[in-house]
Amino acid sequence: MDGVKVIVDGRGIDGAKDIGLKNISSHCALFEMDDYDLSKLLDKPRLNIERQRSFDERSLSELSIGLSRGLDNYESAYSPGRSVLDTPASSARNSFEPHPMVADAWEALRRSLVYFRGQPVGTIAAYDHASEEVLNYDQVFVRDFVPSALAFLMNGEPDIVKNFLLKTLQLQGWEKKVDRFKLGEGAMPASFKVLHDPNRKTDTIIADFGESAIGRVAPVDSGFWWIILLRAYTKSTGDLSLAETPECQKGMRLILSLCLSEGFDTFPTLLCADGCSMIDRRMGIYGYPIEIQALFFMSLRSALVLLKHDAEGKEFIERIVKRLHALSYHMRSYFWLDFQQLNDIYRYKTEEYSHTAVNKFNVIPDSIPEWVFDFMPTRGGYFIGNVSPARMDFRWFALGNCIAILSSLATPEQSSAIMDLLEARWEELVGEMPLKICYPAIESHEWRIVTGCDPKNTRWSYHNGGSWPVLLWLVTAACIKTGRPQIARRAIDLAESRLLKDGWPEYYDGKSGRYTGKQARKYQTWSIAGYLVAKMMLEDPSHLGMISLEEDKQMKPVLKRSSSWTC
Ligand code: GLC
Repeated sequence: MDGVKVIVDGRGIDGAKDIGLKNISSHCALFEMDDYDLSKLLDKPRLNIERQRSFDERSLSELSIGLSRGLDNYESAYSPGRSVLDTPASSARNSFEPHPMVADAWEALRRSLVYFRGQPVGTIAAYDHASEEVLNYDQVFVRDFVPSALAFLMNGEPDIVKNFLLKTLQLQGWEKKVDRFKLGEGAMPASFKVLHDPNRKTDTIIADFGESAIGRVAPVDSGFWWIILLRAYTKSTGDLSLAETPECQKGMRLILSLCLSEGFDTFPTLLCADGCSMIDRRMGIYGYPIEIQALFFMSLRSALVLLKHDAEGKEFIERIVKRLHALSYHMRSYFWLDFQQLNDIYRYKTEEYSHTAVNKFNVIPDSIPEWVFDFMPTRGGYFIGNVSPARMDFRWFALGNCIAILSSLATPEQSSAIMDLLEARWEELVGEMPLKICYPAIESHEWRIVTGCDPKNTRWSYHNGGSWPVLLWLVTAACIKTGRPQIARRAIDLAESRLLKDGWPEYYDGKSGRYTGKQARKYQTWSIAGYLVAKMMLEDPSHLGMISLEEDKQMKPVLKRSSSWTC
């Protein structure tokens, strides 16, 4: 805890003494709960990591970095001329030889930096000059920047993350219009671009809130990632002063207002349209998709520890607590699928009326797809893609399941089961390149109906069962949290055998991910950053704390067996 107090505000030891304690008092939970749980995690017998440092030790060792950076003038902390060959602090800090790819990855990551008036504010989606079509890959995407941000935080370079958080917060303040329709105040952009005018020597920003995006899809995930990143920044630097600014507090409240509103919905999950997350094209991911619900849950939990307990904050805190309660119950009960649950659904009665209904959503057993019976191992389980009236999307989604583990939306038993399934279905879900974005692909008639004949999303390509290297960081984090670093090691080895050679593609195609994606961009930044984050986390698992939340004991796990269905 001392380390944390000292770098609050970047004011150094003495200055922090009085302000630190005061500032921290309302937020103690953030550090105390997480630190306690992380040290517990590191004691797990299955976790076989070479270097285990307690979080407190890490805080102290990073204190020097925090202090020297904190004392720097905020404006001058970064210089655009910074050498791309700078040694990453993470590899300098540890004793063993880094993989040769690591240096290449850092070089490529630094090349992707975007500057606004001399300050780095993000990273472009892809630095692929060979591709004829730039589209919007030269923009800074909020979701794409997350692994870049984590890499910089883990490397002791938090300033770019702070700049990004502040810049996107400003963009949130814009009036957002699509034709004649005004978007919610809290909406965060999908992406932004810095325009440099060399003659006038000015930098301006344009942002896209979905009004320019292919298909005009709204990035529901952007606001959630923003809150999650604010917590990661705060947790990693110990600098509470950013989250505590009236601007950040307001930004969070605006995002939360969008998703905590009460309406006609009978579910605590968030209702969304197709294409609102990483899978930003029509893929049948609308209604209550796991990809969004898991991020929603994680951002609610993150906001809970970041919001101040002042009058406005308190009101939101109360709403969050209630929603978390309902949301975790709903997800753990109805989205969870394992062998037993599948068997129960298979034998469901339909057309039940009243509160005593077992088959609450009136799912017709005939709608269970054939593949899921073979896919389901005897041991293991996962959160399915979607649940709504008479509709269960049985597809497995990588991001939703990993975020469920990291946010502790999944109970410890469910987290272990998700990892059991990953191990049991390694060929299908990992194959030759980690990790499938979803499983299985949709084909033929279903592909026509669901995607609208999307030529980019043909079976086992892109969003439709393609393999995305960026997901490596998420699965690595989930592996570490569940005490299975050896699985992460296997996944990283696979990535290491190909990523650099193939030019850091955006995605791979094919049933086992053998082929570089049909239209994949090269030098895709989040493929590069995802690899670095995975490496750094495995080397130093204490980094996990910035992106993981331990179980909240108050959210009681649901005893999940529909044993009463025959009654
Ligand atoms: C594609 C991906 C999306 C990503 C963007 C930039 O649109 O589907 O998830 O954010 O490219 O890389």
